[in-house]
Amino acid sequence: MKYIFGNWKMYLDLGESVILANELAEEVFTDDKMEIAIFPTALAFSNVATIFSGTSVAVGPQDVAWQPKGAYTGGVSPLMYKDLGARYALVGHSERRHVFGETDEEVRKKVEACLDTGLIPVVCIGETKQEKDEGKREYRLKKQLMKVFENLNLNGGKIMVAYEPVWAIGTGDACNPLDADDIHGWIKLELKNYHDIEVPILYGGSVKPDNVIDYLRLETVDGVLVGNASTKTETFVPLIRAVEKIK
Ligand code: 13P
Repeated sequence: MKYIFGNWKMYLDLGESVILANELAEEVFTDDKMEIAIFPTALAFSNVATIFSGTSVAVGPQDVAWQPKGAYTGGVSPLMYKDLGARYALVGHSERRHVFGETDEEVRKKVEACLDTGLIPVVCIGETKQEKDEGKREYRLKKQLMKVFENLNLNGGKIMVAYEPVWAIGTGDACNPLDADDIHGWIKLELKNYHDIEVPILYGGSVKPDNVIDYLRLETVDGVLVGNASTKTETFVPLIRAVEKIK
């Protein structure tokens, strides 16, 4: 199975999200070896989920609160998203960590809340340019993984990891596929310290229609998490069509 996930971030308002979702819902994606999921804003979630209901496209939020319900201003819980049809949830995206100051401890709580609710958390990890240049990449990733996976009770649920190097996000400076292959292999080994189950690992960071196959050809790369290129039909549909051609 190859996963093509589109993170619309805060690029689209409600009207734009609805237009794009309708355009994508009109396309027919028939490859049963591919799972497509869209992560719209909280604002557009309900509308987009309704548009994709009954299609093969799954949906999920870009972030969740870790409490189910109550006096948590600004929060939306996994339970509430599940109720609207969410299957996945992004957790710990680098923009949440670096722009909004989310900590490893908060990421852990959010992952647990998703698992408790039956959402599949997509745990985003990645190192900064400075950490990479100083040779601290594995150290940073190891720490992020440990905080989430150590003594984590999956309760029979599923979990995924997205490797998104911070320096590759929105920069056009995509991670070299050979380098991604190495680091994905390392992450897969690292995860064996915690669980016996197969954890799909997605790559994210400047994925486009013309480089997507370079990643998905690799056995270590189970999917891609696409930002900017997923926010336009002209780029997201060709990206998916390119993936349909790999066999
Ligand atoms: P870009 O594809 O715009 O680099 O964003 C990647 C990303 O952050 C997906 O979550």
